Amino acid sequence: VFVNGNAIYNDARKGHYAVGAFNTNNLEWTRAILQAAQETNTPVLIQCSMGAAKYMGDYKLVKNLVENEMRVMNITVPVIMHLDHGNYEAAKECIKAGYSSVMFDGHDLPFEENLEKTKEIVKLAHERGISVEAEVGSIGGTEDGVTGAGELASVEEAKTMAATGVDYLACGIGNIHGKYPENWQGLNFDRLKEIADAVDTPLVLHGGSGIPQEQIEKAISMGISKVNINTENQLAFAAATRKYIEAGKDEEGKGYDPRKLLAPGTQAVVDTVKEIIGWLGTPSIK
Ligand code: G3H
Ligand code: ZN
Repeated sequence: VFVNGNAIYNDARKGHYAVGAFNTNNLEWTRAILQAAQETNTPVLIQCSMGAAKYMGDYKLVKNLVENEMRVMNITVPVIMHLDHGNYEAAKECIKAGYSSVMFDGHDLPFEENLEKTKEIVKLAHERGISVEAEVGSIGGTEDGVTGAGELASVEEAKTMAATGVDYLACGIGNIHGKYPENWQGLNFDRLKEIADAVDTPLVLHGGSGIPQEQIEKAISMGISKVNINTENQLAFAAATRKYIEAGKDEEGKGYDPRKLLAPGTQAVVDTVKEIIGWLGTPSIK
């Protein structure tokens, strides 16, 4: 019941909007992301990092969790089940586990090796109707154990990588995972334009949290079609949870019930995802 990301993101690139890619961390986040997509009636990509899969169990468990939640929630919007920042082994495992999309992140390999391994993953995935994301340059900062220097993607490398037939391409354009530092220089729109002029492949903006809305909108107008968000939801979840606990709410003596403790944070993730879907201009399904 999962859909491949190819058509959804090609439509987004052509239509100058983006479709959000949201990381899941547990049951509550899975529900929150699905609920937000259903309420806005928009397609959504749920992604699982290697760290999140390890935390929850394994790749298969996460895929089953998303699938089962879709069933009990009567989700009717298209959902892409994606591996985020996978290494070679993780990408192969998720192809076997029934993901509808995988990212092979070879940014820490020499470019030739990144290219060769991406080609292998594309072949394996496409034979099974699964979409693939690759990366050129790198994303600054660290997320879930994946660290990058933040080097700008070269236009030549982007062209060569796009020619492998990948369905979407993540490029380093000054973007950073996690919180942005005070002295951040902003996205490199000159490089984004050069890459977008050179390749038709839908482009991916990692580290979407904390980028000013105007910069996100400009990047989307130039060819960014997939915007990855994790930290924004973490901040919203943490703030709402803290507020609830600090308010000392102990209604009916059930302040210790985890289902109650986690509810405000979960609602905050729903609200954040819906707000971001609005920023990205994802159109509702007709
Ligand atoms: O791959 C995941 C993302 O790039 C999320 O980045 O946590 O900075 O929003 P973020
Ligand atoms: Zn990322």
